[in-house]
Amino acid sequence: MSSQKRYVVGVSGASGSPYAASAIRALINLGHVVHVVFTPIAKQVWNHELDESISSFVDSFSDTEKTRLIIENNSNLGAAISSGSFRHDGMLVVPCSVKCLAGIANGYAGSLIERAADVSLKERFPLILALRETPLNLIHIENMAKVTKAGAIVLPASPGFYHKNTTAQGLIDFVAGKALDLLGETGHDLFTRWKTEDITGESDA
Ligand SMILES: Cc1cc2nc3c(=O)[nH]c(=O)nc-3n(C[C@H](O)[C@H](O)[C@H](O)COP(=O)(O)O)c2cc1C
Repeated sequence: MSSQKRYVVGVSGASGSPYAASAIRALINLGHVVHVVFTPIAKQVWNHELDESISSFVDSFSDTEKTRLIIENNSNLGAAISSGSFRHDGMLVVPCSVKCLAGIANGYAGSLIERAADVSLKERFPLILALRETPLNLIHIENMAKVTKAGAIVLPASPGFYHKNTTAQGLIDFVAGKALDLLGETGHDLFTRWKTEDITGESDA
């Protein structure tokens, strides 16, 4: 296991709670400390999409793992992750709603997720936004450009199919795995990595 790191995971009210569940579980399985912040709507979407409450998700971890899974209150702007003096190794917003994107792109910092993301940008901590919306309007695209210029990485929640694990869980884990890769956490087994010999069939060459 690599040395223990500390990550922040923001979960906003876009569709895609299974991506968050997969990413959080993988970070905990890798031995890291994870601060998780849900928006109020994210909790409703989570219950709807996963048919599981957040407390039963937390209860699915062992007592030791639970000590590394810290559920934050999105209204608590006094939480440690609200301050740049509190150091961590990166923040993932998964799924990221277009509202949350707008808040981050415009430096609004009115909730703990927005503030922690704003702090991540100013402190140059990695910030990965797993955006989930389709189609996109110009406001979304301009906000994506703004956060990218400010140092965030926009990770569209759009799974690939080339890894051949096209079960729903395989596609969920592909997106979660890309998010972990971007945090520098490449030791996960959320998908099988591409190898040259994987390509088959004829080409024009
Ligand atoms: C079931 C459900 C699915 C939603 N899916 C999306 C989505 O995929 N993308 C998005 O940007 N908003 C989506 N929304 C709307 C957001 O929840 C809404 O814009 C909300 O204000 C986001 O607030 P938050 O970012 O503070 O969580 C969805 C809402 C519901 C109830």
